[in-house]
Amino acid sequence: MLRTSFLRLLGRTGASKLSLLEDFGPRYYGSGSLSARDDASDARAYFTTPIFYVNAAPHIGHLYSALLADALCRHRRLRSPSTAATRFSTGTDEHGLKIQQAAATAGLAPTELCDRISEQFQQLFQEAGISCTDFIRTTEARHRVAVQQFWGVLKSRGLLYKGLYEGWYCASDECFLPEAKVTWQPGPSGDSLPVSLESGHPVSWTKEENYIFRLSQFREPLQRWLRGNPQAITPEPFHHVVLQWLDEELPDLSVSRRSSHLHWGIPVPGDDSQTIYVWLDALVNYLTVIGYPNAEFKFWWPATSHIIGKDILKFHAIYWPAFLLGAGMSPPQRIYVHSHWTVCGQKMSKSLGNVVDPRTCLNRYTVDGFRYFLLRQGVPNWDCDYYDEKVVKLLNSELADALGGLLNRCTAKRINPSETYPAFCTNCFPSEPGLVGPSVRAQAEDYALVSAVATLPKRVADHYDNFQIYKALEAVSSCVRQTNGFVQRHAPWKLNWDSPVDAPWLSTVLHVALECLRVFGTLLQPVTPSLADKLLSRLGVSVSERSLGKLYFLPRFYGHPCPFEGRRLGPETGVLFPKLDQSRTWVVKAHRT
Ligand code: MSP
Repeated sequence: MLRTSFLRLLGRTGASKLSLLEDFGPRYYGSGSLSARDDASDARAYFTTPIFYVNAAPHIGHLYSALLADALCRHRRLRSPSTAATRFSTGTDEHGLKIQQAAATAGLAPTELCDRISEQFQQLFQEAGISCTDFIRTTEARHRVAVQQFWGVLKSRGLLYKGLYEGWYCASDECFLPEAKVTWQPGPSGDSLPVSLESGHPVSWTKEENYIFRLSQFREPLQRWLRGNPQAITPEPFHHVVLQWLDEELPDLSVSRRSSHLHWGIPVPGDDSQTIYVWLDALVNYLTVIGYPNAEFKFWWPATSHIIGKDILKFHAIYWPAFLLGAGMSPPQRIYVHSHWTVCGQKMSKSLGNVVDPRTCLNRYTVDGFRYFLLRQGVPNWDCDYYDEKVVKLLNSELADALGGLLNRCTAKRINPSETYPAFCTNCFPSEPGLVGPSVRAQAEDYALVSAVATLPKRVADHYDNFQIYKALEAVSSCVRQTNGFVQRHAPWKLNWDSPVDAPWLSTVLHVALECLRVFGTLLQPVTPSLADKLLSRLGVSVSERSLGKLYFLPRFYGHPCPFEGRRLGPETGVLFPKLDQSRTWVVKAHRT
C-alpha cells in the first residue's frame, strides 16, 4: 500500500497568471466598487458542464446545468473581456452500460443512438445561446487517447491492482453501491426487486475480476484539500456533505468491467478483456478538452470550475479529485453544485410522462425569457418546481412590465422628444444628500436609489462567486423596481421641457433612470444576452462600452464627465419583451391531470 504522505497535496500547479491586469482599471464609482484585486485574482477561467448521457432526449434540467455554466462564464468574460482568458466546455457522455442497454432497447447500434442524441444536445445548446467554446463527445479518438494515457499514469504510480469485485451495480446511475444503499421494492410482476435507495433505479449483483483503484488511500488528502479550500465546493452545505462522506470509510473503487459484459467503452490499455469504467472515462473529458496529454492542458488546469448537479457530487468531489491527485495533478479549483427541477412536485421521468421539453419552452417563452426564468427561479441549494403559470407570471411582471415599462417610460418620444441621453444637473441632484436650495429636487429615496445601483455590480459579482445567480437577478429586479418608483415619484410626464424651472430636473430624472437602465442592461447580459443587447442598443451604448470595466455608473453625480450625456439614443426597435398570454400555459397543465 502506498503511504498517503507521498500523495500530499501539491500546491496549485497552474502556470503564472495571465497579465490581464490592464483590463482592470478603476471600475465603479460609489462604495460598492469591484476592486482591481477582485477582478484580477483569477485571470484565466475554464468552465465545464457535466457531459450529458445520450440515452434520452435533453430536458429542462440538462438545460439548467448548461445555463448556469453559461451565465457564470459570460459574467467572467464581462469582467475580463479578453477572450483568451475563458474556456467553456460541454458535451455528451456516450459510453457505458446505460447507453449500451438503451441502444439495444431502441434496436439501434450504440453509435447511431449517440449520434442522434448528441446532435439534439448540440442543437438545443445552440438555440439556447450556450456560449461554449468546446463540445466533446467521449466517442472521439482524442478522448480515447487521453483516457488511456491517464489510465497509464495511474497504473505506473501503483494505484491500480487486479482483484475480485463483488457488489451491487446500478446501470442507470452507472455506480457501485454498498449494501446499505440498496433496498427492495415490489417490481412490475409483484416480485421484490433490489433498487438504489437514493435514485430508486434497479440494481444488479456483480461479481467479477476487475481493475481496482486505491481510493482508500485518498481519504486524508481529500480531507486536507477540502479543509484547506473552504470554497472548493459551493454552496457550502455541499462542501459539508462531502466532508461528512469522508468521515466514513472510503473503500477502493472498481474502475473496469469485463468486456464480455460491457463492450461499449474504452478498452483497458494492454488488456482487451476489460473496459474502463464509464465514470473514469467521462471525468477525463475535462482534460481531453484542454489538450491532455499534451502539456498545453496545463495552461487551463487547475483554473477550472465544474458546474454539476447534486446527484453527481460524489463522482466530482471524491473520485475525480482522487484520480487527479493519484495522477500527480491538482484537484479542480471550484465545484459549483445545483439542485434539481421537479415538475408539478414530481421528479421528471419518461415513465411519468412529465418530461418538459426545453425546445418547446424556448419557442414559447423566447430564448431570453426562458433563460431568465430558469436562472431567476433555480435555487442551487434546493429543488425547484416547474410549472408554466410560474413562467408567464414572472416574465410578465419582471421583464415585460417592470424592465420594459421603465425603458419605454424613459425613451418614449412624448417624454423624451429629443431622443437623447439628457443632461444631469448637479444643482438639482447634488452629490451631498440633505443640501437645501432653490434648485435641489432630489429626495432621500433618490439617494438610496443611487447608492443601491452604484453597489449593484459588486453585489451581483459576489452572488456569482457564491453561485447564487438567482440572488444576482433578484438584486437587479429589486433595483428595477426602485427605479420605477423613482420615475413614478417624480412623474416626468407632468414636467414641462419649456419651463426653465422644470427642464433641468426633468432632464436629470431621465438621465438617472437611463443610467440605471444602462447598469441593468450590462448586468443582464450573462442571462438574457439578446434582450440586454436590445436594451443597450436602444440606449445608444456601443458594444465596446458594455463590459463591467466600462460601467462607470452615474459619473456626473460623482463629479466626472459622462460620455453618454447629450448622445442620441439608438433606434426604436419595438417592445423590449412581449407580454405573454396566460393561455400559453397548457404545456405542463396537460401532464398534471
Ligand atoms: N453523464 C453524467 C455526467 C458525467 S460528467 C463527467 C450524467 N449525465 S446526466 O445526463 O444524467 O446529467 C447531466 C446533468 O444534468 C447533471 O448535472 C444532472 O444533475 C443534471 N440534471 C439531470 N436531471 C436534472 C433535473 N431534473 N434538474 C436539474 N438538473 C438535472 O450525470
